[in-house]
Amino acid sequence: MVSEKKLAELSYDEAPKIITKEVPGPKAQKLLKKSIKHESMARGAGKFPLVFAEGKGSTIKDADGNVFIDITAGVAVNSVGRCHPRVIDAMKNQMDTLMHASDMSNVKRTELAAKVASIMPGKLKNNVISFFTQAGSGAVETAIKFVRKITGRTQIAAFHGAYHGVWCGGNSLTTGDQYRKGYGPFIPGVIHLPYPYCYRCCFGLKYPSCKMQCAHYVDYVLNTPYTGADDVGALIIEAQQGEGGYVPPPPEYYPIVKKACEKHGALYISDEVQAGAGRTGKMWAIEHMGIEPDMITWGKGMGGDVPMAGLSIRKDLAAKIDDHSQPNTFAGNAVASAASMANIDILTENDYALVKRASKLGESIKRQIKKGAKDIPIIGDVRGLGLMIGIEFVEDRGTREPLGEEKVGQMIMGMLNRGVVMVPCGRFGNVFRFMPPLILTKEHASKAVEILLDTASEI
Ligand SMILES: Cc1ncc(COP(=O)(O)O)c(C=O)c1O
Repeated sequence: MVSEKKLAELSYDEAPKIITKEVPGPKAQKLLKKSIKHESMARGAGKFPLVFAEGKGSTIKDADGNVFIDITAGVAVNSVGRCHPRVIDAMKNQMDTLMHASDMSNVKRTELAAKVASIMPGKLKNNVISFFTQAGSGAVETAIKFVRKITGRTQIAAFHGAYHGVWCGGNSLTTGDQYRKGYGPFIPGVIHLPYPYCYRCCFGLKYPSCKMQCAHYVDYVLNTPYTGADDVGALIIEAQQGEGGYVPPPPEYYPIVKKACEKHGALYISDEVQAGAGRTGKMWAIEHMGIEPDMITWGKGMGGDVPMAGLSIRKDLAAKIDDHSQPNTFAGNAVASAASMANIDILTENDYALVKRASKLGESIKRQIKKGAKDIPIIGDVRGLGLMIGIEFVEDRGTREPLGEEKVGQMIMGMLNRGVVMVPCGRFGNVFRFMPPLILTKEHASKAVEILLDTASEI
């Protein structure tokens, strides 16, 4: 059991509390102007009107002293909350001892590699070799390179709506006009397949009468002559799609796709950068899906406030990678490793109590949203596993036309001015993601949902 009282102590009690006339307040506005003057707005959040000053648990204080409930977890990073005292202690202790050790072994890095192996799912448990990076993009980039060497093949299959980072290799797998248009050409040999987005099925079918046509289509492409997919080394897929709209697949989907992969001789990479680290109510989202991957890319929620990511590969496959073939100067930084160790300890202690709580809390949040949504016609769909919940907004429930950009902006600002930070995602930018730190209290969760529903009912 996780104590609600102890969780409450990790965050600002007074959240939400807005003290300026509007958000952003005067200090934040000034800082935003400065930021725009000196920084590239190609960054993910662009000109998002929030200027962080402090972070505590599942709450944020901005430059003007406004206190918000954080439903972003820094885009699924702060699983144990911002500035968790145990993560800070681990970092401080490590800072006195060793920080950078280039790409060589260091005590904490080595401990972390063993720890990561011990929390892998199924037959991967204690049967992986990990490669450390500083971001999910680096993990994906490394996976692409290693797949080629391991399989001797050049093609990679990814999915519509996928996000695997925006470096050259990953960007080739990632979909989304804003990341691609004008930035090509990308790496050759990438095949994009339909993802099971049941609310907007590309085949115009309905689950379950569809009989999983999308999954069988993957089998058709991979295992039929003359489809062009003759040399696929790996298929990379998010167990629950993230940036593409917080879309969980039907349970039958993955076993069919995994079988198709095996028939073709392709490896299966589960990209858990966003869905992993306990977010979906299991340590790895793939654990919901009844299959085991050959590789896992991870990041975000594994670091506990610091950049820590990596790729874990089944041992027999990793044996095919040459020594010295993938240097990475900052990999396994000792302070980041110490932080990540403390973070993983918090997530896994008491038989994954915090992770299991995410599952229960997620269900009650979805129930509360669905109940309120009955009277709010712009809420089209509520879905997702654990604390990876997507709320899809539409102009009209019948036509499912995505909510327009202007109204999405009004939603964001309306919530911000009531003290809740939430960010959208999705192919049409109309899916609000409920992805708080796993330590969000029930009270803050309920308040955030109330504010979401109040704001939506005004649109
Ligand atoms: C599934 C997935 N893979 C890879 C990435 C890239 O990670 P990063 O932004 O840390 O490079 C992301 C980022 O959102 C992601 O969601």
